[in-house]
Amino acid sequence: MASSRRRSRPTSTGARGPLALPRRARPEPLTTPRLPLDRRSLESADFAIVDSLDPVVKAQQCFDDLLIPADHPGRLPSDTYYISRPGGKEESSAADTLLRTHTSAHQSTLMREGKEAFLCTGDVYRRDEIDASHFPVFHQMEGVKLFDPAVVGGAMTREEWLASEGCQLIAADLKKTLEGMCDELFGPVEKRWIDEYFPFTEPSFELEIFYNGDWMEVLGCGVIHSGVLENAGLQERHGWAFGLGLERLAMVLFAIPDIRLFWTDDKRFTKQFTAGQYDTFKPYSKYPPCKKDIAFWIPDGFEPNDFYELGRGVAGELVETVALIDEFTNPKKGKTSHCYRVTYRSMDRSLTDEEINALQNELRSKTESELGVELR
Ligand code: PHE
Repeated sequence: MASSRRRSRPTSTGARGPLALPRRARPEPLTTPRLPLDRRSLESADFAIVDSLDPVVKAQQCFDDLLIPADHPGRLPSDTYYISRPGGKEESSAADTLLRTHTSAHQSTLMREGKEAFLCTGDVYRRDEIDASHFPVFHQMEGVKLFDPAVVGGAMTREEWLASEGCQLIAADLKKTLEGMCDELFGPVEKRWIDEYFPFTEPSFELEIFYNGDWMEVLGCGVIHSGVLENAGLQERHGWAFGLGLERLAMVLFAIPDIRLFWTDDKRFTKQFTAGQYDTFKPYSKYPPCKKDIAFWIPDGFEPNDFYELGRGVAGELVETVALIDEFTNPKKGKTSHCYRVTYRSMDRSLTDEEINALQNELRSKTESELGVELR
């Protein structure tokens, strides 16, 4: 739901199965990925711990309860893994069934149940770019804290609320809490707050951390939107919420350079970490990469995410990055060409030429037949 996911163009392809998630990335209990993250520092006696909720949810929970409108780009089948879409692939509705795209999908249900403060952790699923920090499944921890109406105020109009001291108090508490968590986790790491927009918080912020020479987004947060609380029958209440990307955080904490490492069985990785201990990853020699380019004329309404998804489907976690390396429009033909460089690499073994060529050929033919491109 963050800025990188805001796309306005409708997709030409619809929900299709089977899901192109790597085999080991299907919904499974939280213990599957090797997250060497000790959660103690994030937990507090006051927060209820919720971490076994089903990742399959309704659009009602994932989007509508959170004021995410039906035409929001995050609801497109090019961004979200749908299980069923009763209204058809072009029509988003509250009744759609999908793999949650964020743990915020459980906010309203848990608040409705009467929880005042909770940390809700789970696997979330997004169709996205392919690089060292994006994987179609990752983990988030949602934090929610409601405040005493006697302290921050109760029912009021949205405008009154936004102008109130109570709203400022909650925003200040949120920032202080999250900065404290970062300091405790990372020590003196450089961090910065960015004003953001989420439909379900107001105001909204993003926290970034300086890592590997670049600013990296680790969480989105904000004061819970009055409309979300109203939808949950809690018009008298106010509070804050945040959503933390756990792999991103663990990558910084343990100096893990590639998000796919969380899914490897390689002992050289798994043996380096012990629960409860902060060990820095010691890189071992990587298997060699193999780069292949693919160029094609794109049809109208082409969505790069559909191409990335196809790459995931064909090569699974053997694809390390897919980068758009060249783009140009031929004015005479009125056609645009994209050239993508696909980097194949296994975390566990050397890949053979035959196997890479077979994958690349399959990718070429599927790109042509499924996305309607004209190969060059
Ligand atoms: N759900 C948001 C995301 O996945 C993060 C978020 C959570 C933002 C809670 C605000 C409040 O990007």
